Amino acid sequence: MKVTVVGAGAVGATCADNIARKELAQELVLLDIKEGFAEGKAQDMMQTAALLGFDTKISGSTNDYSKTANSDVVVITSGIPRKPGMTREELIGTNAGIVKGVCENILKHSPNAIIIVISNPMDTMTYLALQSTGLPKNRIIGMGGTLDSARFKYQLSSTLDCSPADLNAIVVGGHGDTTMIPLIKHATWNSIPVTQFLDAAAQEKIVNDTMVGGATLTKLLGTSAWYAPGAAGAALVESIVRDEKKLFTCCVSLNGEYGQKDICLGVPVVIGKNGWEKIIAMDLSADEQAAFNKSADAVRSMNDVLKTL
Ligand code: LAC
Repeated sequence: MKVTVVGAGAVGATCADNIARKELAQELVLLDIKEGFAEGKAQDMMQTAALLGFDTKISGSTNDYSKTANSDVVVITSGIPRKPGMTREELIGTNAGIVKGVCENILKHSPNAIIIVISNPMDTMTYLALQSTGLPKNRIIGMGGTLDSARFKYQLSSTLDCSPADLNAIVVGGHGDTTMIPLIKHATWNSIPVTQFLDAAAQEKIVNDTMVGGATLTKLLGTSAWYAPGAAGAALVESIVRDEKKLFTCCVSLNGEYGQKDICLGVPVVIGKNGWEKIIAMDLSADEQAAFNKSADAVRSMNDVLKTL
């Protein structure tokens, strides 16, 4: 297996580090436009191999896509991150051009790659990747819901004082502070509904804290987060390269599912060797479906901005 991570910034490097530690690929290429940056990060990571005991070969490349040739999976993290007070949506003008160019370059050398999109605004960048490449829809996966669901479990586990690994909880809809929908009524603690343990105020706080999870970190860090976004990207790579068929919420192309079409939005999907392999239909309440539709409207108007660029 060969995996490429485009963008050697904090998210890309963390994603690559996770991929290497888990030996998800024999070959891992880190690519960045900044001269020597990816090479430096790759060498630094390779110097952990003797300490951590992995045998993935990591190399860096300054914008030379020929080094990424024949990648099975490509993770795109390129673009500018948000600064405190910014929304993910404000990044669209800069990041759209970057993501489109990256997709073109990647496919020249890896025509069969499965592409995971992390760049923000993630829902629109996933839609752009799909539209601009014309790839089969199953090969374009937006990472957002995987990260948001992990953040939701973090909030739940902190309140319930339980292991996050014992929780089943997902966030659907867009990957925006106001567009994501943590489905708390469906969340369970090893099959027991979490709502049994949380009053309405506690539920509302968990949902709100999850929705602004990224913004909270951006404020604390001065830039956007990287450990959980990087780990979420690597978890998707793992399910693909090991054909695990795990269920994640990912941003994928909808064609009537959940009442939406011509949009990429977060829904539960099975991730395996073919990319996203199927969308899992879940019964949403009228309120949840209404929130999903509202989220779709917001993402759709963001997608419309692409036409003006
Ligand atoms: C976040 C960015 C990666 O939510 O979208 O931290």
